[in-house]
Amino acid sequence: MKILVTGGTGYIGSHTCVELLDNGYEVVIVDNLSNSKREVVDHIKEITKKDVRFYEGDVCDKTLMTKVFTENDIAAVIHFAGLKAVGESVKKPLLYYRNNIDSTLTLCEVMSEFGCKKIVFSSSATVYGSPKSLPIKEDFPLSTTNPYGSTKLYIEGILRDLYTSDNEWSIALLRYFNPIGAHKSGLIGENPNDVPNNLMPYIVKVATKELEILNIYGNDYDTKDGTGVRDYIHVVDLAKAHVKAIEKILRDRGVDAYNLGTGHGYSVLEIVETFKRVNGVDVPYRIVDRRPGDIAACYADSSYAKEKLGWTAEKEIDEMCADSFNFIKKNR
Ligand code: NAD
Ligand code: UFG
Repeated sequence: MKILVTGGTGYIGSHTCVELLDNGYEVVIVDNLSNSKREVVDHIKEITKKDVRFYEGDVCDKTLMTKVFTENDIAAVIHFAGLKAVGESVKKPLLYYRNNIDSTLTLCEVMSEFGCKKIVFSSSATVYGSPKSLPIKEDFPLSTTNPYGSTKLYIEGILRDLYTSDNEWSIALLRYFNPIGAHKSGLIGENPNDVPNNLMPYIVKVATKELEILNIYGNDYDTKDGTGVRDYIHVVDLAKAHVKAIEKILRDRGVDAYNLGTGHGYSVLEIVETFKRVNGVDVPYRIVDRRPGDIAACYADSSYAKEKLGWTAEKEIDEMCADSFNFIKKNR
């Protein structure tokens, strides 16, 4: 059975392709390589010893997407393709709305035309804005503080409207918390070209001395040690949830949202100390001002995903830190 994975050469997409192939699915990738490299396709093949069909191009390109669906009998789609840098989205909102929303509209139009009405969408914990209490459940109020987050919220709405208009659709909205880690092989992982925005890629670059020092954005939050608390989840656990979501949408019609996290909150200082201990490296840091738009703490109640998808995260924080560093050591 063929699954189309948009954004399949990206960080989460590549790990999901591996899990799909390991579970007997065939994989077709469409990616414009705006934030990933072609060699990832070979690495996915090397890990799984399976073939993958790759189309280099834009999901916003309707001619291309029609060609993909004409040439492949696609059973379901996982839609990762999107731009994801919060800060950049504030500076270039039109780019984010155009890319993230247009790609989804084009994809869904072509899916409709080919009678393929099963989609898993990459949403984000960012749709909860600043949560009033913790852990976060799926029925908490939704809001966003930046254009990136708005694209996620709008797309969730678009997909819900689509289901309302046509009950043959099966749609899973997966709200990721903070993915880190990498595949054990060290062949795929996250390696941003620019200065990283996110904590783990930044720590890794400080540990390898590519960057001098980690800036910790505030130690005066109302958290266990004053630094921000997040729900870090191993990317392989996250990838496995996509296989469960595919099984679910192949089985049942409807539209539903699922939190994907571990349920544990770790502070920035805890992550830094764990990374140092597990990898035996130094990570110099300094405390600086809060980053605008950051929230104090965020972690998931993922019991709904357990109940409906039969999925729970299994990997612990030590393994996440070790795998993140292993990938970068092999890919410096
Ligand atoms: P990523 O940048 O590594 O992967 C996204 C991929 O999509 C890249 O390979 C990029 O080249 C491709 N792409 C972007 N726009 C495209 C387009 N119009 N056509 C074709 N390809 C396109 O990001 P990721 O971390 O793997 O994230 C995957 C998805 O999960 C994104 O939608 C992201 O917003 C969402 N998400 C990520 C996080 C996170 O912290 N990594 C958290 C929540 C949600
Ligand atoms: N942090 C630092 N220094 C850094 C980077 C981050 O102290 O150099 C802190 C932040 O202040 C925060 C924590 O580390 O307390 C995590 O920050 P990240 O940037 O790694 O992650 P966020 O939770 O801010 O945001 C991420 C993604 C969003 C997504 C959200 C929820 O970037 O796109 O998780 O899924 F919406």
